[in-house]
Amino acid sequence: MIIAQISDTHIALDEADTDQRLRDFANVIDDINALNPVPDVIVHTGDVVHNGRSDEYAAAVDILKSANTPVYAMVGNKDDRSNLRAAFAECGYLDEASDFIDYAVENLPLRLIMLDTLNPDSNKGDFCAERVTRLTGMIETDDERPVVIFTHHPAFEVSVGPDPMHFDSPETMGTLRRALLHGGRTAGVFSGHVHRATFGDIEGVPASVMSAVSTTLRKGEYPPHMTGRAVYQVHRFDTDGKFITETRIVGV
Ligand SMILES: [Fe+2]
Repeated sequence: MIIAQISDTHIALDEADTDQRLRDFANVIDDINALNPVPDVIVHTGDVVHNGRSDEYAAAVDILKSANTPVYAMVGNKDDRSNLRAAFAECGYLDEASDFIDYAVENLPLRLIMLDTLNPDSNKGDFCAERVTRLTGMIETDDERPVVIFTHHPAFEVSVGPDPMHFDSPETMGTLRRALLHGGRTAGVFSGHVHRATFGDIEGVPASVMSAVSTTLRKGEYPPHMTGRAVYQVHRFDTDGKFITETRIVGV
């Protein structure tokens, strides 16, 4: 099972680097299309757009139309639930009975669960009691295949960068961490938000953060030959039950 993870494309239409953000996103999709073997799925771990606007989502969806692999989107702190829901409604995977953008994908060798850690009033993440109930409910099925869970905000302290904590409080992050481990089936947790790549764990379950697809918004030091070259990650679930993660650097 191969998962291509993309994140933090921050599509915006009125910025000085608008064209570059669009190009980075399109270059990544082109690169994924050229992979052999082709990934089973593309997961976008949020901040699809920068201002939550419908016209930004339209531009993002237009780029994603060229993907040869099914794409699943989720919300980051810059996203707007309603506008994202409208833009991706045709895809048919969002739960129309809830405001939250969280759902399970069941038709793959692993079960995927996408979470909603958005707090509309903060750049930091939230995970309230209702979302805990929704997550544990999604994990608790008769299907005992491993679960891989995607969040925008990382559920571990990130040592790279100025602020290790990406939830409003350690208690909230602790609540999410406990829920992630519910049922003992979780094989990995993949996140975005930080715009830098790093690895961590949730009580021994591997967890990671990927950099921003947008080359103008990623953080950290990159060599000059990386200018204008977007990065994304490919997670391969091996036969021994572990993920091997590769960072792909796309051409220009
Ligand atoms: Fe972001």
